Amino acid sequence: MTAQTPSTGGAAVRFAYWVPNVSGGLVISRIEQRTGWDVAYNQELARIAERSGFDYALSQIRFTAGYGADNQHEPMAFSQALLAATSRLKVIAALLPGPWNPAVAAKQVATISHIAGGRIAVNVVSGWFRGEFAAIGEHWLDHDERYRRSEEFIRALRGIWSEDSFSFRGDFYRFADYTMRPKPLGPAPEIFQGGSSRAARDMAARVSDWYFTNGNTPEGLAAQADDLRARAAEQGRSVRVGINAFAVVRDTEAEARAVVDDIVAQADGDAVRAFGHEAKNAGHASPEGKGNWADSTFADLVQYNDGFRSNLIGTPRQVAERIVALKRAGADLILLGFLHFQEEVEYFGRHVIPLVRELEAAAPLAVAAE
Ligand SMILES: Cc1cc2nc3c(=O)[nH]c(=O)nc-3n(C[C@H](O)[C@H](O)[C@H](O)COP(=O)(O)O)c2cc1C
Repeated sequence: MTAQTPSTGGAAVRFAYWVPNVSGGLVISRIEQRTGWDVAYNQELARIAERSGFDYALSQIRFTAGYGADNQHEPMAFSQALLAATSRLKVIAALLPGPWNPAVAAKQVATISHIAGGRIAVNVVSGWFRGEFAAIGEHWLDHDERYRRSEEFIRALRGIWSEDSFSFRGDFYRFADYTMRPKPLGPAPEIFQGGSSRAARDMAARVSDWYFTNGNTPEGLAAQADDLRARAAEQGRSVRVGINAFAVVRDTEAEARAVVDDIVAQADGDAVRAFGHEAKNAGHASPEGKGNWADSTFADLVQYNDGFRSNLIGTPRQVAERIVALKRAGADLILLGFLHFQEEVEYFGRHVIPLVRELEAAAPLAVAAE
């Protein structure tokens, strides 16, 4: 880890949770999961998360079942149900360039921003699932072309949101003297984006507010965060970093480990292998071969964004200490998945977040300067 990694300095690390807007939970396993994907379950979860100290909720965009997620609610529409149920939580709605056009997306987000007091953000995903694109008749672009399109998409969103008479001539999108009104409430909606490839980080450095990455060790995260921040600095920009983690927090470490062992032992092998096949194609598709999932093991894939790798598995104190280590390695935000969402978000808010705040307060300079 190097000295430049933290961007938060003394700021409190933020917490987000994955919205289970697709069925089957966040692990590809037959283990019992008391997690629902319906509207009522999610509205209650959003209320619990908000009062438990979570800042953001991130929804997923899926058009077909990719890993047993047989039902998938559309995130932009779904976000409104969550926003209506809460008053402070920010909802990050996923958007997939291709099916979405930036003119429509910019307008949807602006209207939701007015409905919800500016609490809407977007996660511009670039696509990894070729079969899904084929199923809905979308062209499948090469890896780095997908990022070129996403970058134009983000530049278009920013332009439409901030300018009148916006003109843009890209290879994928064009705008001529376009004024959209109303603009979203200020400050402009935050733009998140995820991936692990060279193209993903370079795009984040140029245009994103936030960069999401799959689960990783503090060392793996620091390598990505340093690289990203160095490239962003060359552009005179700063980008914040969020890392995925699947949290299993129990009274003893043995209990927590046993839950993860059980999740993996009861994995739906066929679904994990099918997902792994698609994901690894995507992971190897980037020119340098280092995208998400490029070196994921079977166990990593059971939580489909490598969430076990971040190792937030143990007692509240162990998990709080590891969160601070991730922060020191460059994370501004921890994105969390859980087995039984409602119960575990509440437990996390009661037992882990206060410890993180204590550790942050006790050693702010150590976090900022190490
Ligand atoms: C936190 C996070 C959330 C993501 N959410 C979605 C999603 O909802 N739908 C989707 O199709 N891809 C999603 N992705 C996939 C990315 O947009 C990207 O396609 C994938 O990570 C492969 O990128 P890479 O080859 O640059 O590593 C997500 C990735 C991350 C890290």
